[in-house]
Amino acid sequence: MSLADIFLACLGGGSNAGPQAPYLSAQEASQLPLDAFVHRSLECAPSALEQSREFVDILQGHLQRGANSAQVARIVSESLARMGGAGASKATVDWACQLLMLASQEKDGGNPERYRPPQAAGGSYAQVTGSGNGGWETPKQQQHQQQRPQSGGNVYIKSFFFPSEESFSELINFLDSAKTSLDICVFNITDNDVARAIGNAKKRGVNVRIVTDDEQLKCKGSDVERLNEQFGIPFKTDNDPQKFMHSKFAVIDRRAVWAGSYNWTVGARRSNNESVIVTNDSRTAQAFSDEFERLWGQF
Ligand SMILES: *[C@@H]1O[C@H](CO)[C@@H](O)[C@H](O)[C@H]1NC(C)=O
Ligand SMILES: *[C@@H]1O[C@H](CO)[C@@H](O)[C@H](O)[C@H]1NC(C)=O
Ligand SMILES: *[C@@H]1O[C@H](CO)[C@@H](O)[C@H](O)[C@H]1NC(C)=O
Ligand SMILES: *[C@@H]1O[C@H](CO)[C@@H](O)[C@H](O)[C@H]1NC(C)=O
Repeated sequence: MSLADIFLACLGGGSNAGPQAPYLSAQEASQLPLDAFVHRSLECAPSALEQSREFVDILQGHLQRGANSAQVARIVSESLARMGGAGASKATVDWACQLLMLASQEKDGGNPERYRPPQAAGGSYAQVTGSGNGGWETPKQQQHQQQRPQSGGNVYIKSFFFPSEESFSELINFLDSAKTSLDICVFNITDNDVARAIGNAKKRGVNVRIVTDDEQLKCKGSDVERLNEQFGIPFKTDNDPQKFMHSKFAVIDRRAVWAGSYNWTVGARRSNNESVIVTNDSRTAQAFSDEFERLWGQF
């Protein structure tokens, strides 16, 4: 099957029948090198379509780390040939099309209209993947003004639960509202959308610092070193394989805190039951700022 055949098949081809495809979890897929990822995800295409957000993120991770559209197209083509060509299932053809579209768009570099699979075209997520040119601020401020004042009359305090794309969009809003400083102390940061928001903060002049766990730095997909190389964001780790720097909080402008169980990973965002509290209570913000400084000083 040639690439042209794939595009023709996108217009309605592919067979519906066929043997049951094997299952591939997003977790496992995220560990694979590009060629194995493309091949396995095509073989297990129903899994890729079911978890398309995760799989799209995984591909985008590869593209960000330097894979290009020609490479993806070649692997897609070889994989389909290995899988027996023209008889490919509808799911395989659909997923092949998505891979090719994603790869070719990424080549345009900096195109804010990132391709999203149809299932992911929901409101809040579409909002948070916007171009980050200040469009964030408006909805955020509106949301904050809509908060009912708490007992003190002027303390913002709100709880968020995961998995939830709405809660996730709050994390992005939170990061995006940093004006002077963003102090992040999180066990595991592998979510590319979060990393992008962190990079954007640095780009608009926010003083960003990250404390993280030394073990997770070695994990595939860890964004901390990349953020350091790409944007010069300084980070520190606990440097102790026996222990975990297990906190998960962030402070913006020494004024507001995001804290909870939530790892900044796609797994936590989409699969785990997690809980978070956000507040601008000044004593809490001060305490978390102090804790950050303690860790930063100690590591
Ligand atoms: C906290 O946020 C509320 C709005 O939700 C605002 O009225 C208040 O001034 C903020 N307090 C601080 C200390 O920034
Ligand atoms: C960090 O998250 C990734 C998934 O995003 C996972 O594969 C990895 O094991 C995690 N690291 C640790 C130390 O838990
Ligand atoms: C999330 O953090 C826990 C520790 O709190 C860790 O064991 C786990 O591997 C992490 N999970 C993901 C998906 O990053
Ligand atoms: C807990 O997580 C599971 C798996 O993502 C999800 O199906 C379930 O709805 C979550 N429960 C709550 C109360 O959010």
